[in-house]
Amino acid sequence: MENKTVYLNGQYVLLAEAKVSVMDRGFLFGDGVYEVIPSYSGHLFHFQEHMERLENSLNSIRLVNPHSREQWLEILTPLLDFSLDQYIYLQITRGVGPKRDHAFPENIAPTVFAICSNIVPLEGKDSGVKAISLDDSRWDLCNVKATTLLANILLRQEAVEKGCAEAILVKDGYVTEGAASNIFAVIDGILITPPKGNGILPGITRDVILELAKKNNVPATEDIISLEALKSASEIWLTSSTREIIPVVELDSKKVSDGKPGPVFHAVNGLFQAYKRSLL
Ligand code: PDD
Repeated sequence: MENKTVYLNGQYVLLAEAKVSVMDRGFLFGDGVYEVIPSYSGHLFHFQEHMERLENSLNSIRLVNPHSREQWLEILTPLLDFSLDQYIYLQITRGVGPKRDHAFPENIAPTVFAICSNIVPLEGKDSGVKAISLDDSRWDLCNVKATTLLANILLRQEAVEKGCAEAILVKDGYVTEGAASNIFAVIDGILITPPKGNGILPGITRDVILELAKKNNVPATEDIISLEALKSASEIWLTSSTREIIPVVELDSKKVSDGKPGPVFHAVNGLFQAYKRSLL
């Protein structure tokens, strides 16, 4: 384990020394929420949007945000290396209760943890990855960035064991998102991503891509995508803070188009990379 400095409950400590009680509700119940924020050369990408989503997640699980946005920035900045592309993982759980009880204990302080790691590009990212479609077995609060990720973990693991980088999830015949990513498809020349709602996480990368597409006259829309339509798509991408935009070149053992990242991917990925650098 790399022994770097992390943030835990008001203190900066070495990772090996960062300890949380076994009575923490994050450990016992997965009773917490998190955020993943990229940092390019020390600049936290779309920090305000990540903070807004964090506030929404906290509200959904009835936890009070322990810090203002300014305080969060103060807490996270010392963890960053300004010469690297990294990401912050931050987590807030309901805290340590006196006993294991599903209902909230009264008057407990939340546990606040943050760690910074280097962004390591996914292997095969440039040539595209394989994905499989799986039944979306998750709950009705997928818009909440909850640490309770057992379904996502099992789905991703099944994909990995089948030689795929991601599971594309399907609910009632319609595609929702990946196990840890949002999905885009190019169908009849139009870039499509499923609309927001409680069936998907409102991805920050997703919003940036839609915005860039609109500004640069790339036809794009938010609409439902059936699995059948996805199978006929000329391009499929997965998007997330840590992996940015990843082309899927094989779905359920069948090539997407000619099995290479497509022209819309190259165009939008170029826009995304230029936009990212323009913020520095
Ligand atoms: N996951 N959907 C799900 C289920 C996710 O877990 C993620 C990101 C996304 C993409 O959201 P964003 O663009 O804001 O990263 C969509 C993070 C990276 C994770 O759990 O590590």
